[in-house]
Amino acid sequence: MENILAPSILAADIMRLGEQIREITDAGAKYLHIDVMDGTFVPSLSYGVCVVESIRKSCGLVLDVHLMIVEPIRYVEAFAKAGADIITVHLEACVDVGETIAQIHRLGCRAGLSIKPGTPVEEVGRYLGQIELLLVMSVEPGFGGQKFFPESIERIQTARRMIGQGGRDIDLEVDGGITQENVREVLRAGANVIVAGSAVFRDPGPDSRALMEILRKEQEG
Ligand code: DX5
Ligand code: ZN
Repeated sequence: MENILAPSILAADIMRLGEQIREITDAGAKYLHIDVMDGTFVPSLSYGVCVVESIRKSCGLVLDVHLMIVEPIRYVEAFAKAGADIITVHLEACVDVGETIAQIHRLGCRAGLSIKPGTPVEEVGRYLGQIELLLVMSVEPGFGGQKFFPESIERIQTARRMIGQGGRDIDLEVDGGITQENVREVLRAGANVIVAGSAVFRDPGPDSRALMEILRKEQEG
């Protein structure tokens, strides 16, 4: 599977967002990761439908919308209409996970399912036949700039094994605390979609090229 960089705009400079999206596109990023937070499922508030709509107008990247909201099915249609390509919901946030995935598909989007660090990976097993992306959180969702949980490596390996057994091509995305230092280990554990906020937009300065370079090298083996 192709290694894909998905910069998270949570760490971007909103006043320079257009320019920063052009930079990451030129560097080779394929997905744009958009974190939606409701202040209930996670403590923070971020942004919602109109931000996705506005980005869609001038951005050709795959819009990878990560919904950290309670009962996400309520907003799936609005995000689909706003131009999301992938809509990822949390297993822990849905009353009916299967129906939420079905609704995402009915609206013509790819469906992603995410789990927090405390949720056993095995719990997604029954949905692997229905989703296009599995997102394993490597920090507690809610904030950018946290440190990667080392236990995530084993969880990524388990997830990749389960995907392999299911026999369908599913993106395995990892989100939280990814840096130039630990990204190789994350890829080698089986992830192919790398979310990075701080590592792309913050210290040591906007740098998607270095991460993309590592993704390409690891792909070549
Ligand atoms: C955290 C978000 C992440 C966040 C990652 O809840 O889901 O996407 O932006 O930020 P970094 O890469 O800084 O850990
Ligand atoms: Zn995210």
